[in-house]
Amino acid sequence: MADRRFRIVICRGPECGDRRGSAALHEVFRSVLEANGAREHTELVWQSCFGRCTQGPNVLVREIVAAQPGALVGSGFAALPGPRGLTALYNRMDAARALRVVVEHVNGGQIVRDLIERPGIHPHDPVASNRKDS
Ligand code: FES
Repeated sequence: MADRRFRIVICRGPECGDRRGSAALHEVFRSVLEANGAREHTELVWQSCFGRCTQGPNVLVREIVAAQPGALVGSGFAALPGPRGLTALYNRMDAARALRVVVEHVNGGQIVRDLIERPGIHPHDPVASNRKDS
């Protein structure tokens, strides 16, 4: 995977940062990237909020993909998005999950699907029913 580059974006918004301790996650990721030989091909940055606050701390892992020639159309107001690469937003991150993300996603090239929740779904919530009793 050394030929692929990634950006790890850690949320430090008010919920992920202050209440759920994402500041410590930054150091965890730094250490795990070093220990697994991934620091050279991975950027580690912050984001203010992903809008998924109740599922934090949230961490986006995005493959950095070079723009294809001719991929952008227009003057910047009507540009088509470039290729997204191997990208996932991981929820409820901690040190153990950070290790899995680096080993499996960044180094292994596989999205770690069991660390991704659907928006607004809490794993301990009862399954909502859409049935209306008449
Ligand atoms: S504070 Fe992290 S998603 Fe909003």
